[in-house]
Amino acid sequence: MPEAVFHICIKDSVFIDVGCGSGALAIAVAKRNPQASVIGIDRWGAEYASFNKALCENNAKAEGVGNTTFRQGDATHLDFPDGTFDAVVSNYVYHNIPGERQKYLLETLRTLKKGGAFALHDIFSKSKYGGMQAFVQKLKDMGCQKVELIDTTNGQFMTPFEARWMALSGSALLVGIK
Ligand SMILES: C[S@@+](CC[C@H](N)C(=O)[O-])C[C@H]1O[C@@H](n2cnc3c(N)ncnc32)[C@H](O)[C@@H]1O
Repeated sequence: MPEAVFHICIKDSVFIDVGCGSGALAIAVAKRNPQASVIGIDRWGAEYASFNKALCENNAKAEGVGNTTFRQGDATHLDFPDGTFDAVVSNYVYHNIPGERQKYLLETLRTLKKGGAFALHDIFSKSKYGGMQAFVQKLKDMGCQKVELIDTTNGQFMTPFEARWMALSGSALLVGIK
């Protein structure tokens, strides 16, 4: 997780993990931020049939984490008002959803408070997302700060070979402050 997420760790913060799957990222974030609440949402559809709400809850319990909640939800239409969250995170979710993926990113960012942090990891290849550098500029033009697209296939997180081997080429972390 980038430092940006941790710089806003104030008491009573509320974070969301979009497409939380088994809850791994939500639980990790909750552990690092014991005074925050972390909500994990996921569609939990047939394509990832082993992931479900009970699994997330059991995983949180097994990790001794009490500041997570999990609920069913759709990343394309999040059931939260504008500016609900202090931070939004997501890992390898939006590329699974057909359609205009930049819109899904904007939908997630809609739920983030002004000044909140985002860290969204996905396969941001041109074929899946179109031009991401233009999207980074769009976010800056919208008033977001410190927006960066960090390549996660250059050895720091995985090597280019590992990325190709796991069909994860193009992986990057979109981070910034709204
Ligand atoms: C590759 S898994 C990643 C899970 C988790 N983020 C992780 O890092 O382990 C993709 C996840 O996206 C979820 N997903 C796919 N489409 C979704 C949608 N429209 N809304 C919410 N979750 C969705 C799937 O159910 C699945 O749990």
